[in-house]
Amino acid sequence: MLELKNLSFSVTENGYSKQIIHDVSFVIPDDKLIVLTGPNGGGKSTLARLIAGIEKPDSGRIFFNGQDITEKSVTERARMGISYAFQQPVKFKGIQVLDLLRFAAGKENLSTADACDYLATVGLCAKDYIDREVNESLSGGELKRIEIATVLARGAALSVFDEPEAGIDLWSFQNLIQAFDGMRRSIPNSSFLIISHQERILNIADEIFVLTDGKLDKRGERDAILPDLIGTTSAVAGCRKIEGGGESVC
Ligand SMILES: Nc1ncnc2c1ncn2[C@@H]1O[C@H](COP(=O)(O)OP(=O)(O)OP(=O)(O)O)[C@@H](O)[C@H]1O
Ligand SMILES: [Mg+2]
Repeated sequence: MLELKNLSFSVTENGYSKQIIHDVSFVIPDDKLIVLTGPNGGGKSTLARLIAGIEKPDSGRIFFNGQDITEKSVTERARMGISYAFQQPVKFKGIQVLDLLRFAAGKENLSTADACDYLATVGLCAKDYIDREVNESLSGGELKRIEIATVLARGAALSVFDEPEAGIDLWSFQNLIQAFDGMRRSIPNSSFLIISHQERILNIADEIFVLTDGKLDKRGERDAILPDLIGTTSAVAGCRKIEGGGESVC
């Protein structure tokens, strides 16, 4: 179980402090799939980085399975069972896909056949990729899918995916949904935080959290939140502009 308690975070830009996350609290219980959504720039990726330990909050605490992990490093959190797939995947020059999957799984002896299974799950023809280097020769979608495969291979207690659908074509998108499903079934008590704007991913959520301007705007069971998000401006708010003294959404 992951618990965020009154988390706030700001950055300094041009000498000024800019608050990005405002007093966010929530719980992700074991065995739940949460989808975090909301407008661009709302703070979703920042929150994911705070959970992974890439950023440290200004105030508030993060607990994982009852243990305060606020001061723990990325590596310590990974060892404790938190896995994170970036919105923009990282390239690993000089490392082959097979080695990356072995590293992610924490098994030097992960067989080629098992590694291929992870690639097949994300819709990649394994024989074409297993020996490829994880560098800029891979397309954005291929890189994204390989990164998702590493999170599948890790099989962590808590997996955080930041916009897993980004750059993924429609055919593989269905595979992706099935991969989340399979992961839920194969790792007992596993929980997921998936950042997404996609209705098909929102549809597999147990609960939906909406983050707007760094604040937790809405949260609740999928069926209570989703109808409100679909077809309204509340999921993706327009830009605000001042017109004739009044504010309108464009
Ligand atoms: N290091 C930084 N310096 C300045 N501003 C930052 C920094 N990191 C994040 N921000 C700003 O914080 C806000 C939240 O960014 P974040 O990437 O978390 O949004 P997001 O909800 O993931 O958006 P998207 O849906 O577009 O991925 C944005 O306005 C972004 O420009
Ligand atoms: Mg983001």
